[in-house]
Amino acid sequence: MDKNEKFPKIALGAWAWGNDGTFGRTLTADELRPVFDTAMKAGLNLWDTAFVYGMGTSEKILGGFLRTVPRDSYYISAKFTPQCADPKSENAVVEMFNTSAELLGTDYMDFYWIHNPVGAPKWIKELIPLAKSGKIGHIGLSNHNLAEIKEAAAILENEGLKISAIQNHYSILNRSSEDSGILDYCKENGITFFSYMVLEQGALSGKYSTSNPLPENSDRGRTYNPLLPQIEKIVAVMKEIAQKHGVSTAQIPIAWAIAKGTLPIIGVTKASQAEDAAKAAALELTADEIKAIEDAADRYKLNVIRGWEKEMK
Ligand SMILES: NC(=O)c1ccc[n+]([C@@H]2O[C@H](COP(=O)([O-])OP(=O)(O)OC[C@H]3O[C@@H](n4cnc5c(N)ncnc54)[C@H](OP(=O)(O)O)[C@@H]3O)[C@@H](O)[C@H]2O)c1
Repeated sequence: MDKNEKFPKIALGAWAWGNDGTFGRTLTADELRPVFDTAMKAGLNLWDTAFVYGMGTSEKILGGFLRTVPRDSYYISAKFTPQCADPKSENAVVEMFNTSAELLGTDYMDFYWIHNPVGAPKWIKELIPLAKSGKIGHIGLSNHNLAEIKEAAAILENEGLKISAIQNHYSILNRSSEDSGILDYCKENGITFFSYMVLEQGALSGKYSTSNPLPENSDRGRTYNPLLPQIEKIVAVMKEIAQKHGVSTAQIPIAWAIAKGTLPIIGVTKASQAEDAAKAAALELTADEIKAIEDAADRYKLNVIRGWEKEMK
């Protein structure tokens, strides 16, 4: 990483800002502006998004906010999603990059990711001229397993480039990136591991329960509501730890992800959630607390794998 760059310990995710049926409700720019302002004030200035999050909606809302602050006051992390590529295009990566850049109001992405390995390694090859042109600060791979990461790393190395970041699902309910050696590979190779869905889209936040389930008309509701009886028991362990520290339950899984050496991307839809994320960055869990959380999760072996994901073997 460039020595002038000082990334926060936590990135914020804007998937829910571009409602596509995953979260169950539509958020307006007026509602989200205080979320953005609170986060920036708290020093959380690394924003993760993708064109596919509402087909430009998330990037458009975020870009509207970013245009009102200096370019050097934030970092942007956006993605090329193979499934959204125009099949007739000979330069799909450049096209999607340019579309996102226009929506976000920038010509430079601090992080630019290949969103998933569908069609790999074609896309990483297409990314090379873009990276060499200086428009990408850090190249990232998301949802790739270790073999796919190594394949891309070798291609980039031949061009004098490298993978800077990996972005995979990583939470107490899904530790397959740890079990499969991806976390160790990242540590050994100076790669930052961004953990996404640390809160399992709210199911681990302490906000949802069997008596207050996630929105039924959403993918997250359909995924987690049937699991809430077990999730509730895991959350109860985290709640107890949260009470001991005098913090909210949602801060516990975030602090856990940091303690495991990862950079969590937290989806925020309210100003209070941005505040919580900032506080979690300062929270230190003991080894016993980490073990208690993991033991609670291990009892139920939920291993949540979403529709776009695969087991990281
Ligand atoms: N590369 C990939 O394939 C991929 C996949 C998934 C996610 N991501 C990235 O990772 C980000 C995070 O994932 P995510 O947004 O899907 O899920 P998440 O971070 O696990 O959960 C976000 C949800 O948790 C709830 N929440 C957050 N902070 C809270 C707090 N302090 N107290 C109570 N509830 C809280 C909110 O629910 P309510 O809105 O209901 O309040 C929020 O929408 C995404 O936005 C995206 O940028 C990447």
